[in-house]
Amino acid sequence: MNMADSRKNPLILALDTHDLAEAREFLATVGSLVNYVKIGPRLWTQGGAPFLKEVSSRGFEVFLDLKLHDIPNTIAGAVDALSDLGIWALTLHAGGGREMLEAAVSARDDADSEMVLLGVTVLTSLDAPSFNRVCPGCRLEDAVKSRTELCVESGIDGLVCSPLDLPGVKKTAGDSLVTVVPGIRPWKVSDDQKRSATPLEAIRNGADYLVVGRPIIQADDPKAATLEILQEIEEGFRCRKS
Ligand code: C5P
Repeated sequence: MNMADSRKNPLILALDTHDLAEAREFLATVGSLVNYVKIGPRLWTQGGAPFLKEVSSRGFEVFLDLKLHDIPNTIAGAVDALSDLGIWALTLHAGGGREMLEAAVSARDDADSEMVLLGVTVLTSLDAPSFNRVCPGCRLEDAVKSRTELCVESGIDGLVCSPLDLPGVKKTAGDSLVTVVPGIRPWKVSDDQKRSATPLEAIRNGADYLVVGRPIIQADDPKAATLEILQEIEEGFRCRKS
């Protein structure tokens, strides 16, 4: 399959723009190449549910990345309220614990929604020393492993992890969870993403979806950058087969 000819590819565009107007411009520029669009706290705050519905009505699958983290009762309320907005997927912090994740699943099911629930394991911006500050004595790999187990046990649909964590996640969860992978850097840059890899490496390691923001949003030519990433994704699938 030539991914550039089809929007059915696993690239999720992180629409981390300054405002809604800029977001609409990006959708007009690269929208013909992507099917999945991630909306984070900034655009959610500015546009709320009407903006999500606008993006859906333009034919995109909406990934709402709010990384919810609260007590189970509060999470159930939030998931219930988000369940009928036509969102494709929603994130929660797996560090909120098994009961929190189970409350999200129950609320989604009670609302008869098909929204995919994804647990964020450990942020890709955290490396081992910075993780040690938030969780002294706990190794980052152990946290990823136990949070992956929590995702499996709680019955949520998938997780968000670093491309570097994929081999361990697959070992723990097999193919039972959908893997959504940010921290994708097609070329070497120095920013807040600490545990990153190229699109090719992430797909080769078994990622189901790749989340890419700044490499596209901040590119001089966003369309060319998207095409380059799609080519690498194709190459990654070829490596998987061989
Ligand atoms: O610009 P960049 O490609 O780093 O964007 C990555 C996106 O993925 C951001 O919107 C960020 O919020 C999100 N994300 C992440 N790490 C996670 C979960 C989500 O970078 N663990």
